[in-house]
Amino acid sequence: CERQDGRPFRQRLLVVANRLPVSAVRRGEDSWSLEISAGGLVTALLGVKEFETRWIGWAGVNVPDEIGQKALTKALAEKWCIPVFLDEEIVHQYYNGYCNNILWPLFHYLGLPQEDRLATTRSFQSQFAAYKKANQMFADVVNMHYEEGDVVWCHDYHLMYLPECLKNHNNNMKVGWFLHTPFPSSEIHRTLPSRSELLRSVLAADLVGFHTYDYARHFVSACTRILGIEGTPEGVEDQGRLTRVAAFPIGIDSLRFQNALLVPQVQEHIKELKERFSGRKVMLGVDRLDMIKGIPQKILAFEKFLEENPNWRDKVVLLQIAVPTRTDVPEYQKLTSQVHEIVGRINGRFGSLTAVPIHHLDRSLDFLALCALYAVTDVALVTSLRDGMNLVSYEFVACQEAKKGVLILSEFAGAAQSLGAGAILVNPWNITEVANSIALALNMSAEEREKRHQHNFHHVTKHTAQEWAEMFVSELNDTVVEAQLRTSK
Ligand code: ADP
Ligand code: G6P
Repeated sequence: CERQDGRPFRQRLLVVANRLPVSAVRRGEDSWSLEISAGGLVTALLGVKEFETRWIGWAGVNVPDEIGQKALTKALAEKWCIPVFLDEEIVHQYYNGYCNNILWPLFHYLGLPQEDRLATTRSFQSQFAAYKKANQMFADVVNMHYEEGDVVWCHDYHLMYLPECLKNHNNNMKVGWFLHTPFPSSEIHRTLPSRSELLRSVLAADLVGFHTYDYARHFVSACTRILGIEGTPEGVEDQGRLTRVAAFPIGIDSLRFQNALLVPQVQEHIKELKERFSGRKVMLGVDRLDMIKGIPQKILAFEKFLEENPNWRDKVVLLQIAVPTRTDVPEYQKLTSQVHEIVGRINGRFGSLTAVPIHHLDRSLDFLALCALYAVTDVALVTSLRDGMNLVSYEFVACQEAKKGVLILSEFAGAAQSLGAGAILVNPWNITEVANSIALALNMSAEEREKRHQHNFHHVTKHTAQEWAEMFVSELNDTVVEAQLRTSK
């Protein structure tokens, strides 16, 4: 099997993630169109090119009929994707419920459901049962497509029960699991009713990976405190069986962004944007419209900056591009109204007949438009309350070779550990601190911007998505070989 450039692929890789890189939209009984899915997991994995990859996951749509399922399976096969069909009830209980209303907020330190989200806890048991059922459905599809020698790489909090399902079926499968979110302090994980079952299942994998050393450490101490299993320098060892646990910081395909800036259409778009915002500094936020991204806090900090710096009021604009996400979950619906309300108030307060200080778009931008925006930005604002890594900050840096803009970055994003020396780090909960950082960024000297940018650019271009995947997969191969040697002794 060969790549497009004729070189052989390294190995066959089955990537298993809840979200496929494309989401399906039905156009007719047996016709589908496919759109790129938004999110860091998809962005990073699309940058992995050296493996013969099959991607197994959910296409983001309910397809109850056989004709539709057959047609979609065929359309996805052209993209090397294999669908897992989840019905509406499973999606409701597993994806909206257990994954996005329980695990996602908990892993980002927002806690288990309280008050109006309490109703959810009452159905906790049925949601966890649906979670396990959905994971088994993913496992069944993996088992159908698995060939001896494949590496099976499971991704994210949706699939914590998958390693156990896979190993129960075939203990010789090479199974890795990677978490794209933070793994919280063991004190937080301890509150989860299914805490032990999930940890045990993840430990069935041969290799468990996290974005940062801290997340890996939290996982190991959760295993020690909750399961009573000792951590070792390599990972976690239980009754002679070692699960290797390590940090593998993710990256992006930086060349894809750098090359995009050379495309004439992007150059044209950059020119238009510069004209459109001439005389004003451009500040940019690009996020999924998610409570962990700290969008209300960011906008309130911008308001405070405008309040305290009247001389900047007609010289700066904040572009906030927030693609709607998980729209069936009530918390996300509430967030949308909250953000609209704050933006409306601030634009009413500081806007004029001809200009408003905040342009807020609830939509996804296509790749080239996004690159053009990154390139004209003076200050990027990434104020996540918690974030596994945050690839938007990497994408911004990759597009800033000409401008050398400033990155304001939350200290609670994994990226703070890699881009911290070049960025202005902030506590996103501290509105005054963020407002002061905006002033600092806008007034920063060209020399200082250059120095900070070079630091970050070096990191982003050196530590790519490809390197991340290679490190994970080669560690997984080595771990399995070492385990075989140990048992044969
Ligand atoms: P998360 O994985 O939580 O969504 P990341 O920052 O790691 O956060 O990744 C987000 C990915 O989604 C990036 O590749 C970014 O370009 C993309 N994205 C986010 N918002 C938008 C948007 N409004 N339009 C287009 N792409 C977006
Ligand atoms: C984060 C998660 C991914 C998820 C993405 C988009 O990046 O880590 O697993 O795919 O958000 O969210 P969605 O629910 O639309 O897949």
